[in-house]
Amino acid sequence: MKIDLSGRLAVVTGASGDLGRVMARTLARCGCDVVIHYHRNKTMALQLVKEIRILGRYAVALQADVGDRKSVFGFRDNVLRQLRAPDILVNNAVIQYPWKPVLEQPVKDYEGQFRSSVLQNVLMAQAFVPAMKKKSFGRVIAISTECAMMNFEGQSAYVSGKRGMDGVLRVLAREVGEHGITVNQVAPGWTIGDKERKLGNRVSFKGRNAYASKVPLRRRGTDQEIANVVAFLASDLAGFITGAYVPVCGGNVMPAI
Ligand SMILES: NC(=O)c1ccc[n+]([C@@H]2O[C@H](COP(=O)([O-])OP(=O)(O)OC[C@H]3O[C@@H](n4cnc5c(N)ncnc54)[C@H](OP(=O)(O)O)[C@@H]3O)[C@@H](O)[C@H]2O)c1
Repeated sequence: MKIDLSGRLAVVTGASGDLGRVMARTLARCGCDVVIHYHRNKTMALQLVKEIRILGRYAVALQADVGDRKSVFGFRDNVLRQLRAPDILVNNAVIQYPWKPVLEQPVKDYEGQFRSSVLQNVLMAQAFVPAMKKKSFGRVIAISTECAMMNFEGQSAYVSGKRGMDGVLRVLAREVGEHGITVNQVAPGWTIGDKERKLGNRVSFKGRNAYASKVPLRRRGTDQEIANVVAFLASDLAGFITGAYVPVCGGNVMPAI
C-alpha cells in the first residue's frame, strides 16, 4: 500500500517556510502537482518550484497575504488561470509574534494572529471549497500546534489564533462532509526543520533536550514526520477521517476521548 496522489493538485500555504517546504515536496513525491504559496520569500518558493519540476510534477509559485480577502481571492484566480481547481488545501502559513504575557502582548499581535490563523482558514475555504463541492471531493488540512492544547505562559496570541481556527475547521467539517470533503488539523510539536539544521552546532541544545526529555517518545519530531501525516490525510487512505485534530508530537499532548 502506498500514498498515491497522482492527478491531484495541492495548494500549500507558507510553502516557502520551514515545514511547508517539506509538505510541498512530499505531496509532489506522492504524485501531486503543487501550488507553492509564499508571502515574501519568492526566492525560496522559486527554488522549490524547480525541485518539484525535477521530480516530474507541475508546480508554480504564487504570492498572497492569507489574512486579506482580496489577496486570497486574487491568488485563487491566479491558481485557476495557471492550473485548475485544487483538490487539496494545506493551510500552513503563520505569522509568528514574540511570545509575551497577556498583560504585555500588544493588541495588534492578537489581530495579526487572528488574520493568519482564523481568517486564513475562512478565506481559503471561501475561495476554494465551492469548486471542491462541485467535484464531490476535497481535502482541507490545516496546520495547528500542540501549543493549542497546552496553553503555556506567553503563548496567548498564538494559542488563541490556533484555537479559533479549530472552531472554524470543526464547523466546516460538518458543513461540507456531505460533499466528500474532509477537514482535519495536524498539530506538530516543536519540530526539527532546515532552519535548525543549518545552524548545526550553533544551536543551544539545553532547552531542546529539556523539551525532548518530557515527550513520551523522548525526542523531537522532524519536518518529514509532519509532512508524512499531511500526505496521509490528503490521500484516499484517510477518506473516512474528518473533523480530527491529529497531534504529531510524540505523545506530548493526548486529546481526551
Ligand atoms: N516549526 C515548528 O516547530 C512548529 C510547531 C508547531 C506548529 N507549527 C505550525 O506549522 C506551520 C508552519 O510553521 P513553520 O515553522 O514552518 O513556519 P515558518 O518557517 O515561519 O514559515 C511561515 C510561513 O508563513 C508565511 N507567511 C507569514 N505571514 C504570512 C502572511 N501574512 N500571508 C501569507 N503567508 C504568510 C511565510 O511566507 P514567507 O516566508 O514567504 O514570507 C512562510 O512561508 C505553522 O502553522 C505553525 O504554527 C510549527
